[in-house]
Amino acid sequence: MCQKLVELVPGDYPKKAVLVNSGAEAVEDAVKIARVYTRRPAIIAFSHSFHGRTLLTLSLTGRDHPYKDHFRPLVPEVYRLPYPYLYRGGPFATAEGCLAALREALATHVAPEEVAAVIVEPVLGEGGFVVPPREFLTDLEAVCRQYGILLIVDEIQSGFMRTGRMFAFEHFGITPDLVTVAKSLAGGMPLSAREKLMLP
Ligand SMILES: Cc1ncc(COP(=O)(O)O)c(C=O)c1O
Repeated sequence: MCQKLVELVPGDYPKKAVLVNSGAEAVEDAVKIARVYTRRPAIIAFSHSFHGRTLLTLSLTGRDHPYKDHFRPLVPEVYRLPYPYLYRGGPFATAEGCLAALREALATHVAPEEVAAVIVEPVLGEGGFVVPPREFLTDLEAVCRQYGILLIVDEIQSGFMRTGRMFAFEHFGITPDLVTVAKSLAGGMPLSAREKLMLP
């Protein structure tokens, strides 16, 4: 199963997969791996995202009601930035606006060398099936590479052909460091995985 998974994820480099019991656990593990690997604390996540219901994944999730009602305090060192939402308009409707917000946040809220990872859905799921402009993800990847920040792509909802490609990130030509998958992976059974980053 793990062998098949690492073959499915594009990219000709060594990968590893681990199976766990829910999407939320896959996300938790991805964050923990990113922290251990980088020895950095902070995680950047996006508005309108959904990453799960455990306290860490709830803290990453970019929507308040009803998910977070009465569950505070949440996990620290999570910084949330806007996800491009063309339909809603405003300053964060475009990739440029959101990337400017990201650069501003790295200059004012959290220094890049404190950031372990950025976690992003390549297409928003619970947030409303929002497809970001291509340059949002490619430029986000470039910022990650510039600062040694890991890119976690959450494919738990968008993976396994739901966007017409095996993984939604394939539409954008990016190369994540960690990929979380679940849902269609096991057709309803609790099973999830996170992949790629090499650990000793
Ligand atoms: C993008 C995304 N990440 C994580 C999760 C959490 O997965 P699970 O409900 O299996 O914990 C979900 C669930 O809807 C999701 O859509």
